Amino acid sequence: MKEIDWSSLSFGYMPTDYNVRYNYRNGKWGEMEVCSSDIINIHMAATCLHYGQEAFEGLKAFRGKDGKIRIFRMRDNAERLKSSCDGICMAELPVEKFEEAILKVVELNKDFVPPYESGASLYIRPLLIGTTPKVGVSPATEYMFLVFVTPVGPYFKTGFKPSPYAILRQYDRVAPLGTGTYKIGGNYAASLLSGEKAHSLGYSAVLFLDAKEKKYLDECGPANFFGIKNNTYITPKSASILPSITNKSLMKLAEEIGMKVEQRPVPVEELETFEEAGACGTAAVISPVERVDDLDENKSYVFAKNGEAGPVCTKLYNKLRAIQYGDEPDKYGWITILE
Ligand SMILES: Cc1ncc(COP(=O)(O)O)c(C=O)c1O
Repeated sequence: MKEIDWSSLSFGYMPTDYNVRYNYRNGKWGEMEVCSSDIINIHMAATCLHYGQEAFEGLKAFRGKDGKIRIFRMRDNAERLKSSCDGICMAELPVEKFEEAILKVVELNKDFVPPYESGASLYIRPLLIGTTPKVGVSPATEYMFLVFVTPVGPYFKTGFKPSPYAILRQYDRVAPLGTGTYKIGGNYAASLLSGEKAHSLGYSAVLFLDAKEKKYLDECGPANFFGIKNNTYITPKSASILPSITNKSLMKLAEEIGMKVEQRPVPVEELETFEEAGACGTAAVISPVERVDDLDENKSYVFAKNGEAGPVCTKLYNKLRAIQYGDEPDKYGWITILE
């Protein structure tokens, strides 16, 4: 294993030994290439640079107590990438090629998978881009898929400590019938300004509302949102949020611990009634919401009065982490063990 101060890792890029790549040319994907350079060489008129033909994914590998490396729900990420590719007219990458690339890149960089005790993990970043030079707006005919990895600690500096979120009505992340359900660069570009504003005001992220009516909750910057009340896990149903694989997992775990699960439009005012709330995603895992400040309405919804995560967030967090690290059995077939 590499000499790294694993427990002080943050969520950032650290170079590792290898990345893997595939190219799509003449209507088909080629063979996998293993690279040790973290530089890519593309044409200055490539469609990814001009017209945002870029989709990515994010998943993690964990080292268990037994030393084994476990990759969480990679098939779901493969399927979501296919959907993102369809959404912006890029060549779809077959699930098998995606999985082959993930297994290979983790194997090649296994010395970067943090030790069990550190609580850190290996973040895996697949990326698919249009590389054909074009000046007129139209989809590329050539693509590159690559996967790199980097060891990471918590996404939000506060880790599992509750932190505040803000509603900023003057910004939208995506349009009502736009690209919100895809994991593509353009959505993130559109969220940067409001995200930076929220950070400068001391918030972890923006809690976006639906762009059409500003009546319903959408999601929390780079994470989905859920609220807890009356033994029920409630998460927004919306046509403009990213279908989070973590959220899908938490819904299953909530059911398992005897909670009701509701996925439906959640009006902003319902925030008033939640006993707990959380932001969830691969990077954030669960990031408990301390409070939501609705800055335009001058209103504050407080969930973590004593600065501690609530009992349901804690239980779900521990359960998910236990499955990911192999401390609990993988009942749902979410884990791929690297042999
Ligand atoms: C906009 C957005 N929403 C939600 C999520 C959480 O999704 P997942 O749980 O699949 O990581 C992410 C992160 O991937 C995201 O970028």
